[in-house]
This record gives sequence, C-alpha cells and structure tokens, in this order.
Amino acid sequence: MKAVVLSSPNSWEIKEIEIPVPKKGQVLIKMAYAPVNPSDLAFLTGNYGIKKKYPTVPGIEGSGKVVSSGGGFYANYLIGKNVACTANATGNGTWAEYMLTNAAACVPLSSKISLDQASMLFVNPLTALSFINIAKSEKANAIVLTAAYSALSKMVLDLAAKSGIPVIGIVRSFNPSINSNESGFTKLFESNSEIFESDFKSFVSSYQKVVFFDAIGGSDLPTKILSYLPKSSKMISYGRLDQANTPIYSPQDLLFNNHSIHGFWLSNEVANKPFYKSLLDVQKVQQLLKSGFQTKISKTFSIEEIDLAISEYQSNMSKGKVLIDFN
Ligand SMILES: NC(=O)c1ccc[n+]([C@@H]2O[C@H](COP(=O)([O-])OP(=O)(O)OC[C@H]3O[C@@H](n4cnc5c(N)ncnc54)[C@H](OP(=O)(O)O)[C@@H]3O)[C@@H](O)[C@H]2O)c1
Repeated sequence: MKAVVLSSPNSWEIKEIEIPVPKKGQVLIKMAYAPVNPSDLAFLTGNYGIKKKYPTVPGIEGSGKVVSSGGGFYANYLIGKNVACTANATGNGTWAEYMLTNAAACVPLSSKISLDQASMLFVNPLTALSFINIAKSEKANAIVLTAAYSALSKMVLDLAAKSGIPVIGIVRSFNPSINSNESGFTKLFESNSEIFESDFKSFVSSYQKVVFFDAIGGSDLPTKILSYLPKSSKMISYGRLDQANTPIYSPQDLLFNNHSIHGFWLSNEVANKPFYKSLLDVQKVQQLLKSGFQTKISKTFSIEEIDLAISEYQSNMSKGKVLIDFN
C-alpha cells in the first residue's frame, strides 16, 4: 500500500509499505479521507505532544471502512462499517491507504454523515465541545477567540450561539469576502490594525467574566489580549500557530489582575474521560453535523500529491480544510 513515511523531522516521502495485520482489539481500515490539521504540521516537524519512533506514518484522524479485525467483540462488530478513526499513540497514522488502529479509536458512522466530513469528526469538534463546557463551568459571560476564522473557532461560535454566550473574535486581518457583521461574532477585531488594542480594550470592558482561548501562542499578543480583559479572566492556551515568535508575558498583568493561564490538549482530556463518554460526544457531533456544524473543505488531493496538499493548506488556512482523498 502507499503511505506517507516520515523518516525524521521534516523529511517524508511516499513509499510502498506492507498492509498491516490486526491483533486482538485492533481493526484494519481502508482509508477514505484524512485531513491536514495544524497538529499534523507540528507532528511533521517533531514538535507535537505525541512523539513516535521513526520511520512512522503521520496523520492523526481520518475516515474509512473497517475491512478486517484481529478479534474482540467491538472490533468484530466494526467489520464492514464506515468509521471515523484516530491513529493510536504508538502506531502508524492516517496518511496511508490502510491504517491499523485500536477498535476503541473508531466510531461507526450514521449513514447521513459523508466520509469527507467524518474524517474531521474528532479533533476540532471534541475540542469545541470541551471549550463550551469550560466556558459554562467558568460562568463566562463572553468568550474571546484568536484565529477566529479557523474551523475550530466556527464550531465554538456555533455551540456558543446555542448556549447564548457572546463570542468576540480576533483575526490577523479581515477577509474581504466575509462581512464582519454577518460573521456570527458579537464583534470581530483585526489584530494587525493600529487601533486594535484601544478598540478591543474599550469593547471588552463591559464584560465581567471572560474566558479567552488562544491558538496563537507566540509573541506578546496573547498576553496583551489577556491584560485587557476584566480581572480574574482565564486564558486557555491551546495552539502554537505563531511558531516564528517567542511567547512573551508580563508577570505584573497576571498577578495584579488575578489572571490565570492554563493549557488545553484534547489528548489529555480524552485520556481522562471514560471511553463511553467520548463515544457519546462523537454521537453528539454526528447529530450536530446534520445541522450546520460542517467544516468547509477547500480542496482534496491524492496521497501522491501530499506536498501540494501541505503547501496549499499552509498558504490558505482560512479558506477551508485540505483533505487527502484515498478513493
Ligand atoms: N490543543 C488541542 O487539543 C487542539 C485541538 C484542536 C485544534 N487545536 C488548535 O486549534 C487551532 C485551529 O485549528 P483549526 O484546525 O481550526 O485550524 P484551521 O481551520 O486550519 O485554521 C487555522 C487558522 O489560523 C490562522 N493563523 C495561522 N497562523 C496564524 C498566526 N501566526 N497568527 C494568527 N492566526 C494564524 C489562520 O488565519 P489566517 O492565516 O487567515 O490569518 C486560520 O484561520 C490550531 O492551532 C490547532 O493546533 C488544538
């Protein structure tokens, strides 16, 4: 079978490798689609939270059909079913024509869910559900999001609207094709604008309890944004989109304002949850997908076109997701 094989950080090629054979509790999936996510880009550089022994196949999530099982009740039950799946923590990933994974890392799909949307069923939707739970448990009366045009931000926006929580978005630059009044955000700011800081500060002063989810990670921008929020606000750092700049923070802003900074990583969240709860969450996502929770897909590429797929995604992230299409 064809697979993207990563032999060391930043070095990959398409190779023919053996189709693996499942052991008890595992299934073999004939892959249909796999997205290129920011976490995959981090994995390619060797800077992701999960490290695997090289050579390895990248790809964290995807969709496909279970074609064989190594035995076990749930693994056998999945044979012949279309599933959304994630790679297991030690084995090869989804960027290959076939993937072996634990049956517990697969969820059977409702017939109404398309395989392309199903390939993005775990990472962003489960993170969005967690963010809304965090905002609710903090009794936040507003959410602030950086990278507000991202697929994840759109999901948070959708769920926040259902829960009546206002969302204030921050993007680097406005996209002229998106009217900021119709974007769904209570207010959308452009961080590259000269008046961003003063406008943002005055706008957020009317809120009492804000949770700020930051995907940027680099420069002093995230903690500057935090410093403009009301006292006792919480920043959740969950991404490192700005790899070029070192993160900078001001201890004074934290201590005098009683602000706090926390980390969020879905893998930790899932590891600390009973399996049935994650299954219920994925079922909930399948329901949400029937009513406007879809991720915009900008382009699909064959596995041989992986370099093109990666560069297309890197240069147009806000346009939508890029998928590898194995069909
Ligand atoms: N911690 C977790 O468990 C977890 C789980 C899921 C997702 N995430 C993170 O969530 C973030 C969004 O993921 P996604 O899949 O929704 O992404 P996506 O749809 O591919 O969109 C990425 C967005 O990031 C923006 N962006 C890129 N570089 C940036 C920078 N240096 N500064 C500010 N904005 C930048 C892009 O906007 P422009 O290029 O148009 O400005 C684009 O809108 C990523 O950081 C991802 O790693 C984390």
